[in-house]
Amino acid sequence: MTEKQLLELLASMSAEEKAAQISQIPLSMCAGGFAEPTGPMVEQQLTPEQVVLCGSLICDQMPDAEKFAGIVRDMTERHPHHIPPILMRDVIHGCRTVYPIPLALGCTFEESLAEEMGAISAEEAVACGYHATFAPMVDVVRDPRWGRVMESPGESPALCGQMGAAMVRGLRKGGVAACAKHFAGYGLCGSGLDYAPGDVSRTEMYNTYLPPFKEALDEGCEMVMPAFMMVDRIPCICNPWLLKEVLRNQWHSDAMAISDYDDIRQLMYHGIAGDKREAARLALSAGADMDMMSFAYLRHVPELLEDGSISMEQLDEACLRVLRLKNKLGLFENPVWCVDNARQEETCTRQAHRSSALEAALRSCVLMKNDGVLPLKPGMKVALEGSHADSRNLLGSWSLDGLAQEVQTLRESFAADGRITLTDTEEADVILFAAGEEQEESGEGTSKANPVFPEEQLQQLRQLQATGKPVVLILFCGRPLILTDVLPCTNALMNAWFPGTMGADALRMLLMGDRNPSGHLSMTFPRSVGQIPIHHDQLTTSRLYNGGAPYSLRYLDEDLSPLFPFGFGLSYTSFALSGAKVQQPLSEEEPAVVTVDVSNTGSLPGETVVQLYARWKDIPVVQPKKRLAAWARVALEAGETKTVTLKIFKKRLDLYDQQGNARALQGKCRLTLGFDSTTAAEVLCLDC
Ligand code: GLC
Repeated sequence: MTEKQLLELLASMSAEEKAAQISQIPLSMCAGGFAEPTGPMVEQQLTPEQVVLCGSLICDQMPDAEKFAGIVRDMTERHPHHIPPILMRDVIHGCRTVYPIPLALGCTFEESLAEEMGAISAEEAVACGYHATFAPMVDVVRDPRWGRVMESPGESPALCGQMGAAMVRGLRKGGVAACAKHFAGYGLCGSGLDYAPGDVSRTEMYNTYLPPFKEALDEGCEMVMPAFMMVDRIPCICNPWLLKEVLRNQWHSDAMAISDYDDIRQLMYHGIAGDKREAARLALSAGADMDMMSFAYLRHVPELLEDGSISMEQLDEACLRVLRLKNKLGLFENPVWCVDNARQEETCTRQAHRSSALEAALRSCVLMKNDGVLPLKPGMKVALEGSHADSRNLLGSWSLDGLAQEVQTLRESFAADGRITLTDTEEADVILFAAGEEQEESGEGTSKANPVFPEEQLQQLRQLQATGKPVVLILFCGRPLILTDVLPCTNALMNAWFPGTMGADALRMLLMGDRNPSGHLSMTFPRSVGQIPIHHDQLTTSRLYNGGAPYSLRYLDEDLSPLFPFGFGLSYTSFALSGAKVQQPLSEEEPAVVTVDVSNTGSLPGETVVQLYARWKDIPVVQPKKRLAAWARVALEAGETKTVTLKIFKKRLDLYDQQGNARALQGKCRLTLGFDSTTAAEVLCLDC
């Protein structure tokens, strides 16, 4: 359709039709091939005619392309203007082929993997009949008590921005609409308690939490989802500063703002709306275009229009964004994207997809300790113990379409491989202890006041250590756990996070040395809960650490340093940096260019991530003590040296004022290069 035709369609719609068009209801309320209300719909007092008018369905059932096709056809045919519904699904880190959780993928520091995950996820999503997905989640996360850290690329705004933008590229390449969420600052929920209130200054918003959304939107992301959060004590879902000033006036974005689940109705819990009618008015007036699952728009927008509480212009603006999104996806001409389940099954089980997920898992696991016991040697006798040794629950949270029965267990993978002998602890040369969180312990609504390694597993670990045999912990977790008591009980620690469909094979290959671990932490691991939030880019302060002296920055009972810093990751080989040079200073038009020689100083081939951190010298505003500004993965044969080029873009050095304007900064930046956020192997000064 042309824009003119869209405007004509809009003009021909009644208020009720527009109110329904900006409403999302669950697909489960439309049964069979007919959009007839069943079950919950009846309680919602929605008539079949209202259901048919709804603009979007959230897919809350396992994929069934033929069934979904029937529902879309039926709703489109029965709609008075034949407007098709848009189907949306949470495809967060893979569809049927599940990739490592996003926090693990962030450890690859590899945008190309995020893009590939997006493209393959989209290919499978299209085959399932989905038109759009609620991904990428690009919340900057600093608090491991919050279970949703698993869903984010990590604590660095730069890493979140680049991995999120890459995921958007992939999703759009694969043909589905993307949704940047949760807009913005959801990770600030107080004490890491999901849904709890938090608040932050606009300056902090502009400098930390908003930039990844801007990068996703600049990449063409079609939607944003306001967060279960607030700014200036105004919930994001009805916050005109966020949804109009920032999103529309400053960023000039026309992305469709879809509420989070039932969030509009939940304004009543905040106490700022006396009923759903007022909640609908507040949200629509502030710029929330679509109502997910609260039915507030469906039921109350016509009457709000009637009594002048909202204007037709406000309603048209929201409705037109929905129509434009459908038009951009070609739904008016082709609303059904997959018509048979055979194609769905073939697409979703392709070996090439599994190979891609395997590669992502190989690069996202992080070797956090190794006294030389790894890699395992062929012929070794190995005991494989622990809660996850025989588990298929390796997919992680938000893996709605993944099938546990398709996941190999660690034991099955080692048994099929055959190079080591699986035996009991008495006979074993080495003990592998596969343990940690269950996948249900992270994700939405899974906050932990004490994100520690499970106590009973720690006891098991101590018993295994008491055998006197080397113990390798294979850690499964959806968040940085407190490992301070765990570390001394291990000879080696491989962090698998939740590695997805191909996780067992990836772990076996890494533990056997077929591949060299190359993951680097996307989020800091604290020594204790009391340190939280602790992250590499904390702001500078007026009192510094002074060896624990009185009146200095110190805890009486804890170290200031983390257990494992952001960017940390070991390998079976070793690397060194030398000869860093500034090849080109920063300008308005061009990035700064730095080169550095990276050498593999060990005896095995391997990959590492060279990281560059930046900090302005002597500027009249507080800034992070350092922040990730550029990075590069590099693969090297034993003894090989390569010169790596790092580009530092201005946005990675910008600091913003409370209006969101980049401060006019000039002078020098201190650049530190290393293989994590604490080691400055090379130091440079950059003229800006
Ligand atoms: C949930 C989540 C959001 C998700 C949406 C739809 O509450 O906050 O991330 O996309 O509802 O499932």
